[in-house]
Parts: sequence; structure tokens; C-alpha cells
Amino acid sequence: MSVFALKIDIADNQFFTGETSPLFSQKQAQQARQFHKKIAGYQPTPLYALDELAGLFGVKKILVKDESQRFGLNAFKMLGGAYAIAQLLCEKYHINIADFSFETIKTTIREKMTFATTTDGNHGRGVAWAAKQLGQNAVVYMPKGSAQERVDAILKLGAECIVTDMNYDDTVRLTMKNAQQNGWEVVQDTAWEGYTTIPTWIMQGYATLADEAVEQMNAMDVKPTHVLLQAGVGAMAGGVLGYLVDVYGPRNLHSLIVEPELADCVYRSGVKGEIVNVGGDMATIMAGLACGEPNPLGWEVLRNCATQFISCQDAVAALGMRVLGNPLGNDHRVVSGESGAVGLGVLAAVHYHPQRDALMKKLGLDSDSVVLAISTEGDTDVKHYREVVWEGKHGIPG
Ligand SMILES: Cc1ncc(COP(=O)(O)O)c(C=O)c1O
Repeated sequence: MSVFALKIDIADNQFFTGETSPLFSQKQAQQARQFHKKIAGYQPTPLYALDELAGLFGVKKILVKDESQRFGLNAFKMLGGAYAIAQLLCEKYHINIADFSFETIKTTIREKMTFATTTDGNHGRGVAWAAKQLGQNAVVYMPKGSAQERVDAILKLGAECIVTDMNYDDTVRLTMKNAQQNGWEVVQDTAWEGYTTIPTWIMQGYATLADEAVEQMNAMDVKPTHVLLQAGVGAMAGGVLGYLVDVYGPRNLHSLIVEPELADCVYRSGVKGEIVNVGGDMATIMAGLACGEPNPLGWEVLRNCATQFISCQDAVAALGMRVLGNPLGNDHRVVSGESGAVGLGVLAAVHYHPQRDALMKKLGLDSDSVVLAISTEGDTDVKHYREVVWEGKHGIPG
């Protein structure tokens, strides 16, 4: 067997309290899922049991939720944006979200609203898609270096799309300023003082994927012992973990929050026990995770309920992409993009690591472990996907 060392720093969460949040509960997730079910074409995304891979890696089960199949949008992100936009419209027109229907909302809307957001691609595509579904406008800002394919996907949905010359967090501030001047509604997946309602809805919307996964695991008669959640601002990780600990109990689930080393703001916050921001260009291949300022709502959940924080190099995500794209035996193939594959990449990097046994022990992994990973995106940047999977870009050093 090959042995190679990829950089994976693991920090135990010393600030774990196990306190759950009523904002990210089963009840909230089920309300969000009821909304998503009303969208034409709704189907739970598949949960694949990669049994041969689990055998190789020495765990009982590896379960991968494939979010590339979410409404044909190649990523999970619309779950949050669409739910937040629906909630905003319901609030404006005094409709209970439980009574929401696309037909009523379209006939009720008196004036078009414009929804503005900042995105690495996936969230903006979700917002643009939801705005179009509801006959509204969207303006989407993207940080410098954004892939043209991701820009084109947003333009195709009829949204305005502007690529700035700033990093993600500065682009968020620019979006806020422009929205204020133009009277647009900001639908952002991060929160700050005075801006918490919309990001709460977004996080609640993400819990739909976890609610589906729990249903799918129940049908397989398995309970997860571990969950791998990748973090940009930590909204997805917080929303999903909040729900999962409500289902299984915070002490019954070993959660691993994974980030790229150049944008590991949640990892650093986890080490310090308070929010730590990371600045600069955050040049990582994991574009969806290139955020330097944790979402305070997500951070609270992660501080209270996450087990460990992981910071890793880009090659870990690339390894995850190759492993998922080239399955063993009868395992299902999963086309997973850079930000989607990093969780599974951590498992693979541990398996091939010279200190494998010590790392397995540190992560509490053994032959009884049932590991849930979320492949949050497909090949949202096809050119780069091929460079990694076909050409071996970001390969194993040495
Ligand atoms: C594919 C993908 N995975 C994960 C994330 C992380 O989500 P969050 O920023 O809520 O942590 C993103 C964010 O854009 C993403 O695009």
C-alpha cells in the first residue's frame, strides 16, 4: 500500500458544551423541507453507501450524500437561498410559510424585488435560480478570480453578475453598500450584527439535506457515528450539525469540521474559542470554502457541538475528488468538486498517512464507525475538475 503524508491539522474542540439550538432543530428543518418539496422536480439527493471503500479504509460504512443532483444545479446551495427568498416574500405579503405556494406568491406579488448576494458561485446560482422561479430580479457579486463557468451559470439564469477585484469578505461589504443605495434585499449566507434573520433561514434551508440523509440512513437501518462537514463561513456546517445533534444527541455524534488551510477561519476560531478572521487572497482550489470570516450563527453551533476542527492542504480535496470519481468494485461513482470532496479526502489522506493508526485513533475511527460525508457540489468548474482528476493537478507531493 502507498504511504504518503498530506497536511491535515486536527484540533479538539476544547469549548464543546453540547448545548443545542432551537433555531436549528428537527422542527425547523422539517418546515424548510416542506417548502422545498413544493418546488417542481424536488427529489431527495442520493445517499450512496461506499461499502468497498469502507472496507479498504477500515470503517464499517462510508455514506456519501451527492448534492450534485440537487435540482440540476450541481450543488446544495439553493436549499438556503430559495428558502430565505420564500420567507422574505411571505413576510412581505403576510403569508405563513407553511401555506406558501408558487402559484399564490406569483399572483400576490405587486412589485418586483431585487435580491443581491455575494458568492463563490454556488450560493449565487441558487439565489439567481430562486429569484427566476419567483419572477424576481437578482444581482450577484463574485470575488476576484471567480471561474468564468460559474459566472456563466449565473448569467444564464437571468441575473446580473459582477466579478469584483476583492476577496470574498470584502465583496460581501461592497454588496451591502450597493444594496443599501439601490433598495435591494441582501440574501447573504453569513451574519453580522443586525443581520441574522436571513442567514438563519439560509442555514435552516440547508438542514433539508440532513433531514433527507437521516431518513435515508433510517431506511438502511444505520446511525452515523461520524459526520464530516466542510466549512466556508460555516453556515452549512452549523445548520446541518445543529439538526443532526438534535436528532442523535451532541455526545453521540463525532463531528469533524473541515477547511482549506488558507481559509481556516473556523479551525482557528475553534482553537481559540472565539471568532478569528483570516484575510488575504485565500488562494485555495476549494472556491466554496474560501471565506475568512465565520458566520457567527454557525460558529455558535460549531463551538457548542463540533468535536474537532480540521485544516488541510488543497491536495486533500484533490485526492477526495479522484477517489470519489474512481470507485472501487460496485461502489457508486460520485462526481465531486473541490469543495465537495474534501471531507472524503480527509478520510483518504488518513488512510494513506504514515501515522494512520494514530490519526484513526485521534478521530475515533474504527471498524464500528459509520461515516457520513456530504459531497456538496459536483464539477461546478469542469475545466479544473478535469485538470485534477485526469491530469493529476494537486497530486501527491514527492
Ligand atoms: C460546494 C460548497 N460546499 C460547501 C460550502 C460551504 O458553505 P458555508 O459557506 O456555509 O460554510 C460552500 C459555500 O459556498 C460550497 O459552495
